[in-house]
Amino acid sequence: MNVADTEVVLSIMSGNSYGITDDAAKADVIFINTCSVRDNAEARVFQRLATLKQYKKQNPGVVIGVLGCMAERLRTELIDKRNLVDVVVGPDEYRRLPELVNDAFSGHKGIAVKLSRVENYDDILPLRTEGVGAWLSVMRGCDKFCTFCVVPFTRGRERSRKLASIVSEIERLSSLGYKEVTLLGQNVNSYHDGEFDFPDLMAAAAAVDRSMRIRFMTPHPQDISEKLIGMIAATPNVCSYIHLPIQSGSNRILKDMNRTYTLEQYLALTEKIRTMIPGVGLSTDIIAGFPGETEDDHRATIDALKRVRYDGAFMFKYSPRENTKAWDMGDDVPEEVKVRRLSEIIDVQNAIATEINAELVGATVEVLVEKISAKSDDEWMGRTDNNKFVVFAKDGAAIGDIVNVKIMKANSATLMGSIV
Ligand code: 5AD
Ligand code: SF4
Repeated sequence: MNVADTEVVLSIMSGNSYGITDDAAKADVIFINTCSVRDNAEARVFQRLATLKQYKKQNPGVVIGVLGCMAERLRTELIDKRNLVDVVVGPDEYRRLPELVNDAFSGHKGIAVKLSRVENYDDILPLRTEGVGAWLSVMRGCDKFCTFCVVPFTRGRERSRKLASIVSEIERLSSLGYKEVTLLGQNVNSYHDGEFDFPDLMAAAAAVDRSMRIRFMTPHPQDISEKLIGMIAATPNVCSYIHLPIQSGSNRILKDMNRTYTLEQYLALTEKIRTMIPGVGLSTDIIAGFPGETEDDHRATIDALKRVRYDGAFMFKYSPRENTKAWDMGDDVPEEVKVRRLSEIIDVQNAIATEINAELVGATVEVLVEKISAKSDDEWMGRTDNNKFVVFAKDGAAIGDIVNVKIMKANSATLMGSIV
């Protein structure tokens, strides 16, 4: 979501005769786009700000801006306590950036952190970095109010772009040669533009170019309709992959989290998804050490992992966030207990993913070539339809190609093979 927002910011700035440099020492303006979802994300921004001091020293005229969720959350602290920061702009005020940066050049610090009920940057064409896949934000904000989550406070109420404007952006991406589009929203399947719902949007997106893959992130289990599952199953270029955050396997904790489903409902949903979409990839998010979490609750989460057998998971320690309901529940699981529970969760999940991936050794999978692999310049990295990461020797293939790869080796996160 932040990558997509950064592309909106780059588009707004370049429309006002700013250009992009990859050398921060030469920049007149430096923005940091921030995330508040967990404390370590915020800590990293403070570290990054400290390293920006050198640029201000070399070039006292440089304007430094903090954008995004932390801007909204920490506004005055960022300006008052950190002399370094000139502008602080929240996620709904990016249109004001050129004006605020101009004021900053003449010495006036600026804060713009109002949230909007309507801003969705519908008319702004994001300035994307070239590649195979494009992010496309289709709705903003979240009305779910999970008790641990700061997003409804930092990004405001849900609002959706018009289907027609999204479709015309996808047409443009197709003509530019993009091979994959990921429709984004904090709570993407509550998309509704007044006329069309999320399955309508996905169907329209997929119809633009049948050779283009369509993905989406992140849905809430409550809003996964049979219509959506049926549409994914029936549409070949909609990827068979769902990231479906469960957060906890304990009904008591799920209730305190305000997740609005029980474990039984969630498991029934995953069964329905697996029956209707054979071969579907499933991944999840887990929080360890939510307030009041007992060893029994923790074991229920581990059991849920074992029952669903996810292809992958993002696993986090609970991080208390001011303003949220969970903040008032106290952060009563001791740090060392959180660390231990998280590492147990990671161990169980990695073992499951390793087993699932090992079953693919010997199989041939279809892969969209995306980029050079992180480990070697001689290898490509790509993903299967159901979101398995695959690494293989280049062997004449080019970025953007669809190739068949025979899998020779696998670990918990990656399949390795060669083109056949
Ligand atoms: N502490 C830990 N993890 C969190 N997440 C959201 N808020 C918190 C928090 N306060 C996780 C959830 C969510 C993912 C994007 O981040 O698992 O699905
Ligand atoms: Fe946060 Fe996601 Fe819950 Fe919305 S649905 S409050 S973004 S965790």
